[in-house]
Amino acid sequence: MRIYLDNAATSWPKPEAVYAALDKFQREVGAAAGRGGYRDAVEAQRVVASARREIAALVGAADPSRIVFGGNGSDALNLAIHGTLRPGDHVVATVCDHNSVLRPLAEQTRTNNVSVTYVGCDGAGYVSPDDVRAAIRPNTRLVVVTHGSNVTGAIQPLAEIADAAKAAGALVAVDAAQSAGHVGIDVARLRVDLLAASGHKGLLGPAGTGFLYVAPGVESCLRPIRQGGTGVESQLDHMPEELPTRYEAGSLNAPALAGLAAAVRYLREQSIGEIAAHEAMIVDRLVDGLRAISGVRVYGPGPGQPRGPVVSFSVGGYDPQEFAAALDAASGVQCRAGLHCAPRMHEALGTSPLGGTVRMSPGWATTPAQVDRALEAVAAIAGA
Ligand SMILES: Cc1ncc(COP(=O)(O)O)c(C=O)c1O
Repeated sequence: MRIYLDNAATSWPKPEAVYAALDKFQREVGAAAGRGGYRDAVEAQRVVASARREIAALVGAADPSRIVFGGNGSDALNLAIHGTLRPGDHVVATVCDHNSVLRPLAEQTRTNNVSVTYVGCDGAGYVSPDDVRAAIRPNTRLVVVTHGSNVTGAIQPLAEIADAAKAAGALVAVDAAQSAGHVGIDVARLRVDLLAASGHKGLLGPAGTGFLYVAPGVESCLRPIRQGGTGVESQLDHMPEELPTRYEAGSLNAPALAGLAAAVRYLREQSIGEIAAHEAMIVDRLVDGLRAISGVRVYGPGPGQPRGPVVSFSVGGYDPQEFAAALDAASGVQCRAGLHCAPRMHEALGTSPLGGTVRMSPGWATTPAQVDRALEAVAAIAGA
């Protein structure tokens, strides 16, 4: 029996309503959104608009047209980073960032004369707003914050970091890939300029979904990074000015967005607070159980510190990849091992020489019994 503990990569299972919405769209609508005036094209457009409304309501955006859809969280982060930076700009980022942030930034340093300061974190994986403040320079255009770490699970003090950046006149871009759906997000209260997330992780939508929230006025300094058909203003040789079309080149993944709309509706009906409480109970059980196994070292937040459902650990003497493979082979426990696309985080934790960590990421559907079976499997392989 499969015990799926890789929800940080992509969530599984999805709520039944998601499978039903995908199926219904593919079978009964099957038209491109925003590309025609006939009945089913209009229906496809209506479904996409409902996904935009659901996401806007979830993150506290007053205007759904400020939700720009893309293929995943990386797509949204590429737009946020490449769209805002100009030659000579400085960026403040953190060691907690994922390659979806690190690689676009590295590309900017190579090709656009951009410089980056990476702010460190403490032993539990938290970034200090004071350190962010101290790293800001007169030419800092952008501060990028990874809201939830995909290695330690630490949830950063986003409001304080955003305040520090705004006070210095910098734009704030948030990578919410690991926080959306797990913790409440209110873009208006947080005063963030750009917020990127995957639709297929904590938001429980299908693969091939992600979005970028663009705050009012930010479009004036956010260039489209892709050009193509939009279904409107075809006479122009550039992307239309209005949002979200300005940033959505090509046909949208309408079937997946039908699923995402159903997923977010489900999340809002269930209440993120209730799902977060379940995940917190599961994470506590997992962390307590792991800490009790001899030879296991757990990284990241301590009891009571803000966190999402991501738990990293190492087992003395074991290569993380071998350990994860043994868990799958012996007990059907499916989890990830390695650097998890966040190499600087492992340098900060001291886990680079070990080859990273084993990472278990439970989700909304993980049961206490599954956690107990995973813990038994870890103990058996660790020889505890
Ligand atoms: C922190 C973080 N940022 C960005 C991403 C990229 O998201 P996606 O896989 O949707 O491109 C991930 C995915 O694992 C992530 O964990």
